[in-house]
Amino acid sequence: MGFYCDVILPRLCDLAMRNQRLQPYRERVIGTAEGRVLEIGIGSGLNLPFYRAPVTQILALEPAPKLVAMARRAPHPSMPVSFIEASAEAIPLDNHSVDTVVTTWTLCTIPQAATALGEMRRVLQPGGRLLFVEHGLAPDVSVRWWQDRLTPAWCCVSGGCHLNRPIRSMIEAAGFRTDRIETGYMPGPRPMSFMYEGSARPN
Ligand SMILES: C[S@@+](CC[C@H](N)C(=O)[O-])C[C@H]1O[C@@H](n2cnc3c(N)ncnc32)[C@H](O)[C@@H]1O
Repeated sequence: MGFYCDVILPRLCDLAMRNQRLQPYRERVIGTAEGRVLEIGIGSGLNLPFYRAPVTQILALEPAPKLVAMARRAPHPSMPVSFIEASAEAIPLDNHSVDTVVTTWTLCTIPQAATALGEMRRVLQPGGRLLFVEHGLAPDVSVRWWQDRLTPAWCCVSGGCHLNRPIRSMIEAAGFRTDRIETGYMPGPRPMSFMYEGSARPN
């Protein structure tokens, strides 16, 4: 299990996340980041090339050492990037110390996602923004049926990814108000491809 989780799984995660269909989501979401940015679960660093001014600094949080090593080798933007090997459930940053928090396809996997969202809210400036693109619970009953049934097995092989998390209500329950959200299926198997893209501010 150790070799699978430590070596194989990070490679599989990197391969899956290189899907070209995800690129337009990355461009749109990262393109609206500003100031001092905390990216949650940066993985192998696939968002890094999309950061532009007015971003001034990127704090790249990732608990998996293998993925941190891969992200260090990814193409970097012009602003400074600092890596933080930690979990989103306990972010080692001061209250109100970042302008933007970015999460792309991590809320499906973070074990204590509600705690992590509380931490994201804590570190955000009162006027800051949470930018997100996530897959999650679909609106269609038949797709939800499959999401609920597939999640236990999917979780085991994918390193903890849940197909059926209600992303919008999780974000709002953590004390954010959504100021933009777009949802819809991306091409691909429907249980895995219902996307939530948008931004939210601390209440
Ligand atoms: C599907 S990958 C997405 C990677 C990256 N965000 C991207 O868009 O390519 C999920 C990521 O969440 C990270 N992750 C898992 N548990 C986490 C936690 N407790 N705190 C922060 N990140 C976590 C994983 O290590 C992995 O990098």
